[in-house]
Amino acid sequence: MKITIIGTGYVGLVTGACLAELGNDVFCLDVDQRKIDLLNSGGIPIHEPGLEEVVARNRAAGRIQFSTDVAASVAHGEVQFIAVGTPPDEDGSADLQYVLAAARNIGQHMTGFKVIVDKSTVPVGTGDRVRAALQDELTARGVAGQASFSVVSNPEFLKEGAAVEDFMRPDRIVIGHDSTADGHKAAALMKKLYAPFNRNHERTFWMDVRSAEFTKYAANSMLATRISFMNELANLADRVGVDIEAVRHGIGSDPRIGHSFLYAGAGYGGSCFPKDVQALERTARQYDQDLLILRAVEAVNDKQKLVLGQKVIKRFGEDLSGQHFAIWGLAFKPNTDDMREAPSRVLVRQLLDAGATVAVYDPVAMAEAKRVLALDLSPAELARVRFADSATDTLGGATALVIVTEWKAFRSPDFDKIKAALRHAVIFDGRNLFEPQVMAEAGVEYHGIGRSI
Ligand code: NAD
Ligand code: UGA
Repeated sequence: MKITIIGTGYVGLVTGACLAELGNDVFCLDVDQRKIDLLNSGGIPIHEPGLEEVVARNRAAGRIQFSTDVAASVAHGEVQFIAVGTPPDEDGSADLQYVLAAARNIGQHMTGFKVIVDKSTVPVGTGDRVRAALQDELTARGVAGQASFSVVSNPEFLKEGAAVEDFMRPDRIVIGHDSTADGHKAAALMKKLYAPFNRNHERTFWMDVRSAEFTKYAANSMLATRISFMNELANLADRVGVDIEAVRHGIGSDPRIGHSFLYAGAGYGGSCFPKDVQALERTARQYDQDLLILRAVEAVNDKQKLVLGQKVIKRFGEDLSGQHFAIWGLAFKPNTDDMREAPSRVLVRQLLDAGATVAVYDPVAMAEAKRVLALDLSPAELARVRFADSATDTLGGATALVIVTEWKAFRSPDFDKIKAALRHAVIFDGRNLFEPQVMAEAGVEYHGIGRSI
């Protein structure tokens, strides 16, 4: 099938590459000329395991192209995926300007019949707004009778760091469509497009557009709720002398609860949970409902991002001038270079505010960390941050080590080397990578999250 993807970011690029891999003829559009130039010269704008190979293979086979040419992109695909960003507006609601601009672009150029697929995470009712924006453009061109379209909601559930795998082996495909004749025609095309994923068993859930839009927010909000719940219990565990890791195993083994997303830690970050929890709260407020649980989820997470730094301050004092800390892990999670809403940014700010200096290291996010920390910090503050060449390189002369992201490379360090390099044999672990007992035996003073047993 001929497919257009509007927005070549995390979701758009992965969707485009994976649909090309399945044999489709994919046109990826972006407004960012530099991104398109990079992709056309064989580069990849994000770190995502396996993506580079899929893009290279399909570029070589002529199944995927990258361009900023809007008219050509609209002409190309009978299915037009909108995969642009929906960042939080000032009031926390989803900013739909990019989604609606994409819809208007389609309306300005389309002929014949098109399926317009909202893949971006969008609030309930956005399908109607996309339809209205596009229809306005068709009317303005005087072609409303000759061009027709149907808007479909197909939210994306991939995780960064496992995006290609998640897309290629989805646990579910959610498709919301209208029950009009054009809506059924759109559904038939979506069924054909996703047929390769449903070969062994049917994974598609068909519903109306609004329910599909809502399903995406419900999923992310549920996952964020589990994390904040565990973080709150972990903080209590620290006070009452309980091991939250033992509790996690104890409750996760109940199939009604399950093991996933029960890890207490430094708080959830990334481009989605924080903004999506906020946006659903905002939708509720627009309908005069106060989503108490989600407000608490957000408040707990904001507090949780401060917990690691507070543990450092509790141990070494409010005034950290003259103290220097090693920080391992900057990305909001492993296997990505994404620093959006990363807990490490809060920790760096906290330690600098208390007077300390820091040496930071991340296996892949160093370039992105330099970019975002330059935005977060003043030049004088930035001068107190050293960007190290390796995990070991952060340690020399540091008061203690603080681990923020659970990269595999940090899981089996040489504790003797760490102890020899640090001024105090103290590790603050925001991701509970090690066993407190093993740390005690290794002579390391260990501060996990919810593990003060
Ligand atoms: P992103 O910021 O990485 O990419 C968005 C891209 O859209 C950018 O390259 C931007 O230049 C481009 N763009 C903006 N306006 C455009 C226009 N009018 N025409 C063409 N291109 C345009 O965003 P992302 O992380 O891929 O997220 C996109 C959407 O998918 C969001 O709604 C997000 O919530 C949702 N989502 C993201 C993930 C994820 O893991 N990142 C997962 C599931 C869903
Ligand atoms: C999340 C969802 O998992 C995806 O299904 C969804 O498509 C995506 O948001 C989205 O809508 O963009 P992502 O943000 O890439 O994916 O990463 P997650 O693996 O969900 O992690 C999010 C944050 O939660 C990370 O900071 C992670 O460290 C934290 N987390 C995760 C915990 O603190 N504890 C856990 O048990 C799990």
